[in-house]
Amino acid sequence: MSIDIRALLYLVAAVAFILGLKRLGSPRTARSGNTIAASGMLMAVIVTLVDAEVSWAILGSGLAVGALLGGFAAIRVRMTSMPQLVAAFNGFGGIASALVAGAEFVKADGIALPSETIFTIIVSVLIGGITFTGSFVAYAKLQGLIGGSPVRYPGQKLVNGLLAAGIVVAAVLSQTTQDALPFWIIGGLALILGVLAVIPIGGADMPVVIALLNSLSGVAAAATGFVISNSALIIGGALVGASGLILTKLMTEAMNRSLGNVLFSGFGATPASSEATGGDVTTTTPEDLAIALAYASQVVIVPGYGLAVAQAQHAVRELADLLEARGVKVAYGIHPVAGRMPGHMNVLLAEADVPYDQLLDLDQTNNLLSRTDVVLVIGANDVVNPSARDDEESPIYGMPILEVDQAATVIVVKRSLSPGFAGIDNPLFYREGTRMLFADAKQALTALGSALEDL
Ligand code: TAP
Repeated sequence: MSIDIRALLYLVAAVAFILGLKRLGSPRTARSGNTIAASGMLMAVIVTLVDAEVSWAILGSGLAVGALLGGFAAIRVRMTSMPQLVAAFNGFGGIASALVAGAEFVKADGIALPSETIFTIIVSVLIGGITFTGSFVAYAKLQGLIGGSPVRYPGQKLVNGLLAAGIVVAAVLSQTTQDALPFWIIGGLALILGVLAVIPIGGADMPVVIALLNSLSGVAAAATGFVISNSALIIGGALVGASGLILTKLMTEAMNRSLGNVLFSGFGATPASSEATGGDVTTTTPEDLAIALAYASQVVIVPGYGLAVAQAQHAVRELADLLEARGVKVAYGIHPVAGRMPGHMNVLLAEADVPYDQLLDLDQTNNLLSRTDVVLVIGANDVVNPSARDDEESPIYGMPILEVDQAATVIVVKRSLSPGFAGIDNPLFYREGTRMLFADAKQALTALGSALEDL
């Protein structure tokens, strides 16, 4: 294939990546966006392989094993475990970039490489190595294979600083001597640094870490693209790097925290108050709630992490159908960090075929809430906590919230008064006008549905 045609096809692939990313911005167009970007990637892979001198047997077996594992994971992994799956993908992406770039160093075998090539190889091996082990520590924390609380020890920052210094020294030696030993040392230290950088971060902050590691895996891929002069890899890597960084920023902003606070504060080491302290609550039954819902004109449903854990997305859709059949208007208020990963609630509700136009963002929901008769909060806690607005001492003060306390009646479905991710009590539960239904989200919604049908 001539260089011009290859460059042209890579350009088409790059356009497909960008179009795909753009379409991922809305649930309505996300599926086609995914297909467009994946087709672009397939094309880039084919173009690369046509010219490459490869062993088709090794390549074919690699593809078969990868496709089988990837397909199996994509079908079997539950929505609540998606962050772990993304962590694993990032980790493998990071190590793949590091290995491809490292292979160029090994291949040179003493032949002098240009210093910019060595520098780029080092960047790829360093970032790819950190991404690999960092991602698998994040995976282990989220999967409960290791404890989720931040691991801290005296002199932690000094140890990390010494490691970083060791990497710099080895990188300089690698550049000047082109010796293999400092190069391997960089790889080893990068793997250790990945573990040590992620263990002090609390399990609940892992989604932000995963977004950041996603960005790093893109940077490693782009660096490898420079090493092997592959423009599709450079463009694809740069897009992943930039979008991962934008996502990290959006997530930290929606939690009103800085990236530095997420990475270095050990948030979650000691929950601010894991005990409920607020006083008496008004409890209620599915039968009473069914009456309140049936005679409402506008109902807003606020889903949270508990809805995802209970896999209650279909039950909530069925309840909404029953209400709509009675002429009640239903909308869903989606907080940007409801759940444990970006878009968690949108994806869950889309899976249950909830119409997209019923999904309202933070501002749209807050505009509607003062005109809402009943707001049904299901397995959400921090994202509706009025302390974020009213209590300057609160650890989540300043985090934008869904102001459900503006609605006439607030119904909260959760199993107990236990706190959510931030580990803090929620005054909403003790407020006049709030009624608590203590139950598993799915069971509560099913019971509510039956009670509505019996009316
Ligand atoms: P949370 O504040 O974590 O509250 C979830 C609530 O669900 C818990 O209080 C729990 O109470 C309840 N729950 C658990 N299992 C349940 C079940 N089976 N049935 C009914 N309820 C159940 O959730 P949220 O309001 O969605 O807020 C998300 C939090 O995660 C925020 O603090 C956010 O900053 C953080 N976070 C989010 C992200 C992204 S990108 N989404 C990333 C990092 C951190 P019970 O135990 O009493 O049932």
